[in-house]
Amino acid sequence: MIITALDFNNPKDALALADKIDPQASRVKVGKELFTIAGPALVEQLQRKGFDVFLDLKFHDIPNTVAGALKAAASLGVWMVNVHASGGPAMLSAARAAIAPFMDTGGTRVIGVTVLTSMDEEQLSATGVAATPAQQVMRLASLVKQAGLDGVVCSPKEVGLIRQNIDGPFITVTPGVRPIASLVSSAGGQADDQRRVMTPADAVAAGSDYLVIGRPITQAVDPQQALDAIVHELHATTES
Ligand code: C5P
Repeated sequence: MIITALDFNNPKDALALADKIDPQASRVKVGKELFTIAGPALVEQLQRKGFDVFLDLKFHDIPNTVAGALKAAASLGVWMVNVHASGGPAMLSAARAAIAPFMDTGGTRVIGVTVLTSMDEEQLSATGVAATPAQQVMRLASLVKQAGLDGVVCSPKEVGLIRQNIDGPFITVTPGVRPIASLVSSAGGQADDQRRVMTPADAVAAGSDYLVIGRPITQAVDPQQALDAIVHELHATTES
């Protein structure tokens, strides 16, 4: 349920953090910066430590190129990988076809990125998209579903809308999550540069399956304790 974002610029720090957390308590996300510097070797090391890896490379290219990238990711054995839904139906279908042999055995999942949270209406409009971010999220999430992919990355503010409009199994992965403790105290990261945050419990209540959390865990003095506190906060809220 929790995915720790390993936003480090070198493999040493990423592995040191991984050694401080329990693979049963969290999956890990490897993004563009860390993967560009550390590559598949780091992914394999994390997997050997028992972690499920979400390779957050947000592929976006012509269908043939994205299909090749997805086969490469799946052959690494990663748990999940993502593509930009705005690559269009042909690209999403090619992604689905490329990953099919791995999906059917419960292998690598592929999810779509809808609208980056850095894109507001003005930014979208500048790229020629005459829709609100929420409308565009729904349009892209529908394309992802139609192409048979496993789900989407979206803001916790949009997850409710997606749950209301898309039936069936559909994974939702949400960044922009901050534990209550880190919002009320200076320890553990505050909201950092995240503008519109939700607490873990609210994000789960809205329908989020996986919470991507970075700095509140990675910058904590004791990362496992920070993770335990988030799980505790989740249980306490869902049981009350
Ligand atoms: O440290 P923090 O919890 O803010 O990290 C959130 C992670 O989720 C980062 O890896 C960031 O790049 C990613 N992310 C995000 N907002 C998005 C998409 C991804 O914060 N809309």
